[in-house]
Amino acid sequence: MKQLRLVVEAEDYDEAVAFYRDTLGLPEEAAFSGPGEAHVTILDAGRATLELANPAQHGYIDEVEVGRPTAGHVRVAFEVEDSAGAADRLVAAGARLVAPPTRTPWESLNARLDGPAGLHLSLFQELGEPVFAPDYPITTERLSLRPIDLERDLDDLHAYLSLEEVCRYIPPVPRDREQLREAYAPSRRPSVLRREGEVISLGVEHEGRLIGDAVLFWHSEEQRSGEIGYVINPEFHGRGFATETARALLGLAFDGLGLHRVTARVDERNTASARVVERLGMRKEAVAREADWFKGEWTTLVHYAMLESEWG
Ligand SMILES: CC(C)(COP(=O)(O)OP(=O)(O)OC[C@H]1O[C@@H](n2cnc3c(N)ncnc32)[C@H](O)[C@@H]1OP(=O)(O)O)[C@@H](O)C(=O)NCCC(=O)NCCS
Repeated sequence: MKQLRLVVEAEDYDEAVAFYRDTLGLPEEAAFSGPGEAHVTILDAGRATLELANPAQHGYIDEVEVGRPTAGHVRVAFEVEDSAGAADRLVAAGARLVAPPTRTPWESLNARLDGPAGLHLSLFQELGEPVFAPDYPITTERLSLRPIDLERDLDDLHAYLSLEEVCRYIPPVPRDREQLREAYAPSRRPSVLRREGEVISLGVEHEGRLIGDAVLFWHSEEQRSGEIGYVINPEFHGRGFATETARALLGLAFDGLGLHRVTARVDERNTASARVVERLGMRKEAVAREADWFKGEWTTLVHYAMLESEWG
C-alpha cells in the first residue's frame, strides 16, 4: 500500500479549496482541469490512516467529544499542532463549530466542525505526557497559585478583567462573561507543560478569593528560556501581591522547569509593573522603541531579564 486518498465531491469547489488548502494549510500537491469546466485539486494531508470503529466506539467518541450522536458514517480527522488555534481559524473562514476543543480520556484535544464540501471534521492534537507538572497549589506567604477553576473563579476573573484600567497594557481578553469562560477554559489555559512554545496559566488566590492570574511561557527548550506575566485585581493593588506572584513564577521557572533565562516585557508607561520586576532584581536590558502595534498605537516595550545565576 502506498497511499490512502479520500476523494470528495465539492459543490462549491473554490470555497472548499480555499478552506482546506489556504486556511487549514494542506499543501497543494497537484491541480488539474478537464473538459466541461472540470477541476480537481489534490492536497497533501500528511500521513493517512484508516480508522475502523464499531458502532459502540463510534457512539462513545461522539459522546466524549460532542455529548450526543453527531458524526455520520464518515468523519475526516486532521491531526494538528494546536487544535484550538486551528479551530478558531477554520471558524473564521466559515466552518461551523460543532464542539470546541475537548480533552479526551486518551490525552488528545479534539474539536469538531462542519466544513465545506459537506465534511464533518475532527481536529485532534496529541497531548502526550507533560514534561513539567507542578504540584499545585504553589503557596507563598499570602498567596496560592493554582489552576483556574471556572466554576469557582469566573465571577472573580470577570470582576477585574472587565475593567479598562486592568486591560490597558495586557493582550486583549474578552470582557463578556461567556467569552471569558471560553478563553479561560482548561484546554486553553493549561497548568502543565508538554513542549516548548506552551504556557502555564494560573489563578492567584488570596484568602479564598481569586485576585489575579499569572502566566509562565516556555519559549525554548534548547535555550532554556521563558517569560512571565501577571495581572492583579485593582482592589488588591499596592500590597505587594504582584511581586509575590512574580517571585513564585520565577521560582517555578528556575527551580521547577530549570530555565536559564526568564524575561518580562513591560509597556514603558506601565510603571507599576516595571516596579514589580525591578524589585525582584530583573535587569532592564533593552528599550524596544515603538516595537509593537498594540491596541491602535505604537507601543514601546521595556525588556527585563534574569539569569538562573542571578536567581536565589
Ligand atoms: C502591574 C500590577 C500587576 C501590579 O500589581 P500590584 O499588586 O499592585 O503590585 P505590587 O504591590 O507588588 O507592586 C507594585 C509597585 O508599583 C507601585 N504601584 C502600584 N500601583 C501603581 C500605580 N498605579 N502607578 C505607579 N506605581 C504603582 C507600588 O507602590 C509598588 O511599588 P514599590 O515597590 O515601590 O512599593 C497591577 O498594576 C496590574 O494588574 N496591572 C494591570 C495588568 C498589567 O499591566 N500587568 C502587567 C503586564 S506586564
